[in-house]
Amino acid sequence: MIRTLVILLLLMVTSINVSAANEPIQPIKAVTPQNSDLVDLGKMLYFDPRLSKSGFISCNSCHNLSMGGTDNIATSVGHKWHQGPINAPTVLNSSMNLAQFWDGRAKDLKEQAGGPIANPGEMAFTHELAVNVLNSIPQYRAKFEKAFGSDKIDIDRVTTAIAAFEDTLVTPGSRFDQWLEGDKNAINKQELEGYRLFKSSGCTGCHHGAAVGGLAYQKFGVYHPYQTDSKIEGRKAVTGKDTDLNVFKVPTLRNIELTYPYFHDGAVWTLEEAVKIMGKVQLDRDFSKKEVDSIVAFLKTLTGEQPEIQLPILPPSNNDTPRPEPF
Ligand code: HEC
Ligand code: HEC
Repeated sequence: MIRTLVILLLLMVTSINVSAANEPIQPIKAVTPQNSDLVDLGKMLYFDPRLSKSGFISCNSCHNLSMGGTDNIATSVGHKWHQGPINAPTVLNSSMNLAQFWDGRAKDLKEQAGGPIANPGEMAFTHELAVNVLNSIPQYRAKFEKAFGSDKIDIDRVTTAIAAFEDTLVTPGSRFDQWLEGDKNAINKQELEGYRLFKSSGCTGCHHGAAVGGLAYQKFGVYHPYQTDSKIEGRKAVTGKDTDLNVFKVPTLRNIELTYPYFHDGAVWTLEEAVKIMGKVQLDRDFSKKEVDSIVAFLKTLTGEQPEIQLPILPPSNNDTPRPEPF
């Protein structure tokens, strides 16, 4: 009797594992940071507006961790109210991307983190000046000492620390992940229908893996061109090849309910519209309202536990710290 029970239990456990392993989407795993001093320092830098020329813009200005790691506007606003050319993707789960930026021009988070600091339309600083600011603050030097073993501050260490913090910004525990892990009641009938349709109509051909995206470059406009006023060219800007025009990194669909507006031009405000467009331009399908609603219901089950961030208290500037230039 007990033996039969054990065998039954084992069978149940293995069948759950097998079914999750067969799905094109895998659950997100929680991360335990290796070096918590490094992560703490990275968090301070992520929130510190003194890495910008104005002393006003931090990574969190455009990748707001209170709002799904994004700014929820069509295209970002940078230094002196500069209108950015492109939508800010979320930093949540971005460590799972094959490369960073819509066109993949930075190979990883560390390489990416140097970009915005020196981008005239974003934080508008120079790496040298950002390092000077940090170097002038003894409490920061002590933090670098703790994280790296010496108090040298350079842009390499700054970006290493920011990337280590970003590595912790994952969102496990979504209702969909609970379902993948065997809790069949974690999602309802409409959401499950939406997931089936998401698979059967071919969305998973591009949006798959733990991040439900981030693993490939694909043309935006496979069957029909996407109508946009944006001048952004996608991968062509990186490779120079005409065949890479309108090819973009497939974005993650994790937390997609939080990261509106959608697409690289940020022109689409509702998930319903985004799903309709994807069906049409990528798969040549006209979804009915019911189909759109079920896919949207499924997509909303991808919202995970948001990283719990305690706002870091930053050490003050002092007489030696270069002054901000907001105007
Ligand atoms: C002024 C707004 C702004 C600021 C400030 C900013 N970013 Fe971004 N970030 C963007 C935009 C816009 C993009 C997309 C650019 C592109 O793909 O060409 C982006 C892209 C990214 C990406 C790539 C995500 C992906 O999925 O490809 C990461 C990671 C990131 N930023 C992290 C940071 C960090 C770290 C900082 C601070 C050092 C920072 N950002 C500061 C607007 C901003
Ligand atoms: C051939 C590959 C491919 C297929 C198939 C595909 N997508 Fe996409 N998806 C992309 C790419 C590439 C983008 C980025 C488009 C851009 O540049 O804005 C994207 C963007 C999205 C976005 C907006 C994400 C954001 O953060 O702005 C949503 C939502 C989405 N897809 C859902 C779907 C759904 C639902 C399906 C199935 C009906 C689907 N996709 C099928 C490649 C694909």
